[in-house]
Amino acid sequence: MTIKAFIFDLDGVITDTAEFHFRSWKQLAEEEGIAFTREDNEQLRGVSRRESLNRMLKGRPIDEATAQNWMTRKNDYYRAYLQEITPEHVLPGVVTFLDSAASAGIKLGLGSASKNARDVLERLNLIDRFDAIGDGFSVVNTKPAPDLFIWVAGRLGFPPNEGVVFEDAEAGIDAALAGGFYTVGVGHSVITHAHMVSPGGLADLTVEGVLAKLNK
Ligand code: BG6
Ligand code: MG
Repeated sequence: MTIKAFIFDLDGVITDTAEFHFRSWKQLAEEEGIAFTREDNEQLRGVSRRESLNRMLKGRPIDEATAQNWMTRKNDYYRAYLQEITPEHVLPGVVTFLDSAASAGIKLGLGSASKNARDVLERLNLIDRFDAIGDGFSVVNTKPAPDLFIWVAGRLGFPPNEGVVFEDAEAGIDAALAGGFYTVGVGHSVITHAHMVSPGGLADLTVEGVLAKLNK
């Protein structure tokens, strides 16, 4: 069995938009008188907009119209931050790693829970580097369900056991493991259950190193 595809999460792996998501939720929370800290925000990493709202609410009930209104407001704040994104916001080592994988004949996919993923990739000038892009519109069941990564693998034309998922969120590693993928946990210290971890992100990895460790 040989690894033939790499699938990357976006937020926290390719670029650090987590800060923008945090500031947007924080603004909404402050306007609504809800306590929301950076530690609270860690629970939102990798999960959908709807699940992020649920976690921010911590059990506080709101009706559906209010939920829709709050998600729209949060997204408006987030999209204002997106205007600031340029190719300089690509995390260190990412371009080299993508180039090196493509040169080795590995197919490249993106698997992001975000409905803004394509816009972010365009702003980073990376959209053409991926052979398949799965985002917040691609599947119904979001991470930690494996559906998104399986959808991307299908588009790339490879079964999960020939693919590696690169993720910064526990929900994403859980999703990839549930789907039967190899996993690399990047840039986030709480990830302990991935096949490999790289606290320094893609900058500290080489394609050869990943293949040597995971190819059996
Ligand atoms: C994930 C982020 O990539 O996308 C989450 O890690 C975010 O923080 C989720 O909530 C959904 O993003 P969006 O852009 O659809 O609200
Ligand atoms: Mg992420």
